[in-house]
Order: sequence, then structure tokens, then C-alpha cells
Amino acid sequence: MCGIIGIASNKPVSINIINSLKKLEYRGYDSAGIATLKDNSIDEKKCSGRVDELEKLLLKSPSNGNIGIGHVRWATHGIPNTVNAHPHSTENVSVVHNGIIENSDDLKKELETKGYIFKSQTDTEVITMLLTESLKNTDPLDSVFKTLSKLKGSFALGIIFKNFSDIIIGARRGSPLAVGYSNEENYLGSDSYALKSMTNKISYLDDGELCVLTKNNVSFYNVKKNKINKKIHTVSDDENVSDKGDYKNFMSKEIFEQPTTAKKCVSEYIDSLKKDINIYNFPIDPKKINKIILIGCGTAYHSCLVAKYWFEELTQIDIEIDIASEFRYRNVKFDNNNLYIFVSQSGETADTAAALEICKKNRVKTCSVVNVVESTIARNSDWVLPIHAGPEIGVASTKAFLGQLIVLYISCLKLSSARNEIDKKTYHQSIENLKKLPEAIKKTLNLETNIQLMAKEFLEARGSMFLGRGSSFPIALEGALKLKELSYLHAEGYPAGEMKHGPLALIEEGLPVIVIAPKDKYYEKTLSNMQEVISRGGKIFLITNNKKVSISENIRFGLRVPYIDDTLTPILLAVPLQLLAYHVALLKNCDIDKPRNLAKSVTVE
Ligand code: G6P
Repeated sequence: MCGIIGIASNKPVSINIINSLKKLEYRGYDSAGIATLKDNSIDEKKCSGRVDELEKLLLKSPSNGNIGIGHVRWATHGIPNTVNAHPHSTENVSVVHNGIIENSDDLKKELETKGYIFKSQTDTEVITMLLTESLKNTDPLDSVFKTLSKLKGSFALGIIFKNFSDIIIGARRGSPLAVGYSNEENYLGSDSYALKSMTNKISYLDDGELCVLTKNNVSFYNVKKNKINKKIHTVSDDENVSDKGDYKNFMSKEIFEQPTTAKKCVSEYIDSLKKDINIYNFPIDPKKINKIILIGCGTAYHSCLVAKYWFEELTQIDIEIDIASEFRYRNVKFDNNNLYIFVSQSGETADTAAALEICKKNRVKTCSVVNVVESTIARNSDWVLPIHAGPEIGVASTKAFLGQLIVLYISCLKLSSARNEIDKKTYHQSIENLKKLPEAIKKTLNLETNIQLMAKEFLEARGSMFLGRGSSFPIALEGALKLKELSYLHAEGYPAGEMKHGPLALIEEGLPVIVIAPKDKYYEKTLSNMQEVISRGGKIFLITNNKKVSISENIRFGLRVPYIDDTLTPILLAVPLQLLAYHVALLKNCDIDKPRNLAKSVTVE
């Protein structure tokens, strides 16, 4: 998704802007650009494609300004090309923008009647023109306030001005924006990660706020144009963040980091001395919780779906799962005794953040399960449960999914215990079992060689199917999502028992069908559904933990994952599916860390 950088300094900024844009590459983008103020004029350079291309442009023709803005664009309005890339500049002003201006068509018509000629197909260019128009009569700060009052939609903005060569103005409505501080240098960034190599002192703008940066000073204003103070956070230094080590890409690093992720996450939440889960201060008395509503997008939504099975098994609490982009527009009935839990790796997903905002407006209790603890969603929720996975760079989520599952399972156990709905023995045994997870994940990763062979079978396929029952159904959905995200091969996740109501028609000779059948209460039923697929020519890849299953000639490949207990099984089943998607994508030469059209942090709705 789009990313913003701004630097006000006492020395040339273009190299640091390029380096910071490289840090934002993980978000997914299709073009890049930079504008600095040089010899009292705006020097704009942009290109389609990667930041490397932009860097080459700068090598040919350097930009020496001490103040500048940079951007990576993920196309919304207009195709990904050089003209549509940001910044969008006139002689007097240059703008980078994340988000969507919903009334851009109307504003454009209005501006065209005043003689403005638009070069791009973007919604952003109206901001540039509105600023250019109002700068005729007023100063930069006032012109930004006037412009913002005309905009509908969401945005984070970075703006520089030809005639005010020492300031950058930033503004936020809906899309995140951070400010960083250093000695004789201050920064603007769409997330703190992009600023980390330059500073760990960060402030976050809230909706409606605006900031004015010079190299020595930062001022903040609220929506009423009053000056305000903002808290300065010291963000943690994560080691090896941008280092792939010996791995080919971040995704494989993140898949193989999962034993460590599990260990860290479990040890953060388990008090080994007290043999208890150290989650306290639920925002609602656990015994009074009427219903839990779990909300997320993409992979995070799948972790909510898995959690539904755990909550129903271990507690008497009513559970509902929702996709954030649906929840936010439905006529939801809120209840003070309900707990609304938002699951998000980035903590910045626009739909999830908006759904949380709606809950806040309705004054119900909210909790977030996030990886980025400084994120908007974490800051806006009543209660935060971090997953401690460390930065996840690969666009397709792997270790964060694992962390989300572990935290949701641990909270479920704790709630069940606090409500006296689980007996003490089972509770303590479950805690002990959680400690076995890192080792079991390690063993599951040893299946990689077999999975590499399995991946070859997908190269000629026209599509594929992932089937499961019970908690293996959301794992099937996640397996299918991983395969389509990474390898662009159509993959459909389905409840195995539902196949006969339609999707069975898709089965043809040789279609790869991944059957996820752990030895649980659904096992025999799933195998019967598998037989229905075999009879119609489907090529079966069976993933199980049953030691007794014999891999017959009807099963093309069988994988056996370790077993700890039934509840932890979905976590282990997810791992081979990540590896499968990874290896199919690798064989197909796909851009694994940055799949086409996708973004890591989806800050538009
Ligand atoms: C994007 C990412 C997915 C992720 C989803 C939700 O689509 O590519 O990997 O699952 O957003 O992101 P979140 O940060 O809210 O978990």
C-alpha cells in the first residue's frame, strides 16, 4: 500500500528518502517518486516500478535539496505509470498522499472551470490544485486547513511549498502518519518502521491532526486549528529486521522463524512458576461477557474463524466472527456486555480500524490482537494483546497468523478458566501442551523436502481445492489464500461436507485437492468426502496427524504433522500449507515477498 516519507534537514535528504522508501517496499507498491526543494524550485522525479529505478534516476540527475518528500504508490485511481506516481506538483506545491479522496471527481470539475489542467488520472492531484489555488491568498498552514475542509475520504499527506522552503506539512484523516525526531532533522512517515533507521523517537498523529516540520522543530494542530502537544514514544529496536540472513526471501525466513515466534509468544503469556496464563484486567468481567465478536481481514479473519471453534469448545460464550469491511457497514446491534476483538498484524488495516472506530462510537468494550503495538488499532482499543511476532515483511502473512492463533487460544483458555468453564486439570495440561508447540512446529518444518516434491504437481494445474471440516475448514481457507496470493493459481477453500452442494462439479481428472484430515471427531467424515473426490478423478494430497493412515495409491501425497492435542492441531496444520504455497510460487518464479497487486498494510478501504 502507499507509503510516505518526509525529511526536513540541514543536509541533502534524497539518499535518506530513498533508503526509507526501500523500508516501505514491503507494503506492496507499483511506482515511486520524490520531490525536494532545490534552488527555490520543486525538483520532482518519479517512475513506475521499483525504488531502485528511482534511485537510478537520482544517480543520473541528483536532487540536492535539504527538505523533501517521497512516496511509494499502490494504484487506486489510474494505472500504475510515471504520470500517476506521486508526488503531484505544481510550480508552488508538491503533495504525496495515502488514501482515497472520494469527492475528487466533483472537485476536479470545479477546478477545471477555474482553468486548472490535470495531468494524471489520480484523485490526489485535486489536493495539489486546491492548495495551489488557496496559496494565492494565504499562508501554507491556512491553505492546508482550507483544502482539508473540502476533502471527503481518507488521507495521510506530506506537502512541501516552493516559497516556504523550510517546512513540510503533514495531515492525517483515516490513514496513519507518524513524526520522528532527531538532531537538526525531523521526519514524516506513514509508519514508524520506515523511520527506524533514522530515529526511535516517534509521535503519532490522530485523525484530524496536522503537523508542521522544520529541521529544528515540530508543531502539531488539532482539527480546530489549535496548537497541541503530542506524546513522544520510544519505539523498540527490533534486531535483524531488514536482514534476510541466509534465506532467499523474507517469507521463507518468517516461515522458519515460527518455532521462535511460538516460543516467544507462549513465554510472554505463560507464567511458568504459577502455572497460569498472565492475562489480567479484561475490560469486562469475564463472567459477565455475553458474546465475543472477532473481527479482521484476510489472514487475520481466518485466525478469528479458527478461534470460533476454540471458544465454542472451551467456553459457554456466544461467538460471532466478522469481516471488517462488512461489519463496518452493517446495522450491527451493539451491547455493553459484548467484547469486540480486532485482530490485525499491522494494526493499520483501514477496514479493521474503521470497524473499531464504530465500536468506540457505540461505547462498547474493545480489545485488539496486534503485532505492531504502536499501531492505530492498538492505540485506539481498550485493551491490547500483542502477538510478539516481530516485524513481518513478506506480504503474505505467516508467522503473524501463528502468533494470532496462539494469542487467541491463550485468551480463550484464560477466559474459560476465569468463568470456571474448564476443569483445573485440563487447564494446566493445556498450558503444558502449549510449551510443546515450538518443538512440534520445528518437526513440521522438516516436511519441507516432501512439500517441495508436492509443489511440482501444481505447476500444470488449472486450479486447486483445499478441504477440511471443523477447525480444519478455516485452515483450508488459509491454505487456499496463501496459494492464490503467492502463486496466482486459483485455489478454493471449502468445508469438505459442503462439496456435494456445488463445488464437486469442479473436480476433474488430475485437479489437485488438498484434504486436511487430522484424527479428530470429523476424521471419518472427511475421509468419506475425500473418497467422493477420488471417484471423480481429483488428485489427493492428504495432510493428517493420524499415524495409522496408509497412503494408498489413490492418494498422490501424504504428509503427517506431529500431534500435541486436538486444540493445537490447526496451528500445526497451517505450517505445511504455508510451505506448499511458498514452493509452488518459487517454482513459478513469482515475486514471493511482494505478490502482484497486493499490499502488506491495506490503508485504504
Ligand atoms: C493484507 C495482507 C494480508 C493480511 C491482511 C490483513 O491483505 O496482504 O496478509 O492478512 O491485509 O492485514 P492485518 O495487518 O490487518 O492483519
